[in-house]
Amino acid sequence: MTNKSSVMKKLLAAIFCLVLSFKSLADEGMWLPMLLGEQVYADMVKKGLKLTKEQLYSINKASIKDAVIIFGGGCTGEIVSSQGLIFTNHHCGYEAITDASSIQHNYLHDGFYARSKEEEIPAQDLYADFLIKIEDVTKEVLDSLGDLKEMDRQKKMQSVILSINKRYSDEQNSIMGRVSPLFKGNQFLVFVYQRYNDIRLVGAPPESVGKFGGDTDNWEWPRHTGDFSIFRVYMSKDGKPSKYSPDDIPLKPKYFLPVSIKGLKDGDYAMIYGYPGGTNRYETSLGVKQKIEIDNPSIVNLRDIRLKDMFEQMKKDPAVKLQLASSYAGIANYWKFYDGESKQLVKYHIYEQKKGVEEKFQAWAKGKPEFENLFTDWQKAYEDWRPYSKQRIYLNEGVFGSPLIAFAASLQQVENALVKTNGGDVHKAMEAANEARKKFLESENRISDQEILAATTMMFYSDIDKSQHPVGFFENLKGSFGDLHDENTYKKYSANVFDQTMIFNDAKWNTFSASPDATVLQADPAYAHASAFLKNWQGKYLSIYQQFNARNNDYGRLYLKGIMQMDPKKVRYPDATFTMRVSYGNVKSYNPRDAVHYDYVCTMKGALEKYIPGDYEFDLPPKLIELANKKDFGQYIDKQKNDLVVTFITTNDITGGNSGSPVLNSLGELIGLAFDGNYEALSHKIAFDPVYNRTICVDIRYVLWCIDKLGGASNIINELKLMKPVQLK
Ligand code: ARG
Repeated sequence: MTNKSSVMKKLLAAIFCLVLSFKSLADEGMWLPMLLGEQVYADMVKKGLKLTKEQLYSINKASIKDAVIIFGGGCTGEIVSSQGLIFTNHHCGYEAITDASSIQHNYLHDGFYARSKEEEIPAQDLYADFLIKIEDVTKEVLDSLGDLKEMDRQKKMQSVILSINKRYSDEQNSIMGRVSPLFKGNQFLVFVYQRYNDIRLVGAPPESVGKFGGDTDNWEWPRHTGDFSIFRVYMSKDGKPSKYSPDDIPLKPKYFLPVSIKGLKDGDYAMIYGYPGGTNRYETSLGVKQKIEIDNPSIVNLRDIRLKDMFEQMKKDPAVKLQLASSYAGIANYWKFYDGESKQLVKYHIYEQKKGVEEKFQAWAKGKPEFENLFTDWQKAYEDWRPYSKQRIYLNEGVFGSPLIAFAASLQQVENALVKTNGGDVHKAMEAANEARKKFLESENRISDQEILAATTMMFYSDIDKSQHPVGFFENLKGSFGDLHDENTYKKYSANVFDQTMIFNDAKWNTFSASPDATVLQADPAYAHASAFLKNWQGKYLSIYQQFNARNNDYGRLYLKGIMQMDPKKVRYPDATFTMRVSYGNVKSYNPRDAVHYDYVCTMKGALEKYIPGDYEFDLPPKLIELANKKDFGQYIDKQKNDLVVTFITTNDITGGNSGSPVLNSLGELIGLAFDGNYEALSHKIAFDPVYNRTICVDIRYVLWCIDKLGGASNIINELKLMKPVQLK
């Protein structure tokens, strides 16, 4: 016991070690704003920050952290008015915007601004989480885990975390505790949030502005996208979080961000608060190899097919475009990301770099029983898993890449209830299935889905080792539909599935739903398809995967523990875990390759250069063209550039989840919204590149110009606290 706790003390000392040699880490680092050490804070000040630590984060007083929210579960948002107004990205509000749209009122296409609170549109699926406090529960978790290893450790950890979460949660008051394992399970913090569910859409630019450049420009600089949307958070009349109710009133926030239209210049201090989802900066060469050789190319190939089939239908019909847009954007975003990630990992020799670091570690580990065999064990874990790893991706991204099959797979709950237990369960499972079917049918485009099913089935057949195919599946397919090397075989097969399944047939479905029967379900061709692949996985491979995962996590924990012992003076930040972080750096231009210089801003001039009338990605609204030609930029003009600055770049360290994050100047005033990363640094989840890494931000002056001049929604501008250049006052 004493031994362990002294080890733990050393470990914590290593984690927080804010002593001695603090070298400025370039602009790498996603810091916990509540645990900023003196050195990190001093470095922020050195870079230009003019705020106190208390203004950045305080438990007792209102501080910047109170204005930063988790928006809708995967993005960041910020409060910008005393009436709960939220700014976030267009791509974060995308689904709410498409949901609110119809062919008659196509807000996605035309844009939308509520002129009064009455016109705001409830966004049922969204919520906002405010961070209330954080507590360190490391001791409690580590004590309960003791010397457990691998699978046992993972299982126990999950249950301990669940019970701590429960203790910190209070469902009535929408308070939720969520433990986050940091430093790969060497530290545990519980983050306590207050959730608000009544969120309403207040405004969005036309898609041609909000997603200007589309997937061609996605993950790239230079960029001319007005990637913003506006929401409002409501509370009940007595000031409590509430589900949507017409009686609710706008939230009175603890703190909201002032908005600066003073502009920026190359080298200015920039700070980003938000919720980066995940990084893996201590990934090993083993993991990099796995990613480059198997995981990423598999995801990219499968998504390629799905995207082509969806796009074909979307471009033909605006109704289908509205229906599929959000799902398409999500698939496309990480299709390009994974492709780019592999390319950059190779270009920057990350595998070799990691190998070098690991060699040093192994030299240090010699003679230390806890660490000595770590990499031998780790390599073995990868070897055991590698032969099956492709199948897992083909299942998730291929087989379940067909929305019909993904829905059908969810019916396994019904089957389980039918074959295993009493009627009660069946009733519940069937109810859930009816609900899910309704949602599925609303979002389903049969034509593209039928093609996806055909293509992904063929890809599974050709790309996955025969010994791993579901037993008898392809033999049967061959028997009924023909040659397995001919794509027409799969087209016929898929057509048959779509034609015969009860999922599209109300009469058949209702009969089944009224008296569920396992043989009927099992005979359904869509369910049979899903179930063949799913049961094959569950029966033979799932446990191998779980083993690998448990080992990989446990070795990761040990590796980091060792690294921290090896170099205890180094100040470290934990990998991103979708918990609140702050990153600081500067507005900064860069040279992406030999002889090429990228400026730190993009302007309206460049948007007009890219403009292609009627194009799917590069169109612009006529009114924007008109205003831009007249240079009607009002108070939002950038004097230096004599143009409207649309976007800018900073050296900040962010990742997916940070979308919508506030970009703040040295005084904590909002100067932009972070919305993307640059192509040259797409390897950033695994290795931060101090030379090439940039965060792409939409300039707040462009956001305000779009709302004000283009959208005519001065009611929104009037709500903000604008910080103007002195001479304009
Ligand atoms: N790459 C951006 C991010 O991950 C999303 C941009 C969405 N736009 C798009 N064209 N898919 O935050």
